[in-house]
Amino acid sequence: MKTGHAAERRQRDRRTLILATSLVALLLMATGGYLALTGATHGPRDAVIGGPFELTSSDGQPVTDGSFRGKYLLIYFGYTSCADVCPTTLAGVADALDVLGRRADQLQPLFITLDPVRDTPSTIGRFAASFTPRLIGLTGTPEALRKVAREYRVSATPHPHADAYRIDHSSVLYLVGPDGRYLAPVRADQTGALMARDLARYLS
Ligand code: NI
Repeated sequence: MKTGHAAERRQRDRRTLILATSLVALLLMATGGYLALTGATHGPRDAVIGGPFELTSSDGQPVTDGSFRGKYLLIYFGYTSCADVCPTTLAGVADALDVLGRRADQLQPLFITLDPVRDTPSTIGRFAASFTPRLIGLTGTPEALRKVAREYRVSATPHPHADAYRIDHSSVLYLVGPDGRYLAPVRADQTGALMARDLARYLS
């Protein structure tokens, strides 16, 4: 009888072990699948772009991302003493607004400086307005500008001792939806007409 009980217990233990092993395997498969799924939507290639900011407008007033809810934002990062890329891009944005006509009313273009030392509120304001009065130039504290540049994955390398003062920077236009969420990049190295074509896909 004693040995019979022992055999029974061993068999029960084995069954429990098999059940536990299958459960663990199932769990691993489930979490593995879950991780693969979330990896697909939040992987490094689709890293979250954009985020809140607290900056300063050309009249010295505080401006946040929340100030523009309900409008599409087209955000570009650069600096006012940029010799070539920034002026070309912003002229393109001004052309794009013209091409879009009334549809551009849904869109607020922003130029955020990467040069807090030189680009004071009035400097950035005058510079932005020279392309189109609809372009808002924003500056801020070095910390606030670093934060927003980081959120948008903007790279900026100052060369303060070069012959001509310059900041090498990435050049992408960022389209943000009326709810404040980043929608898509828009190529900056194209004509205003082509920017308008890209933007028209999102505007109603
Ligand atoms: Ni530039």
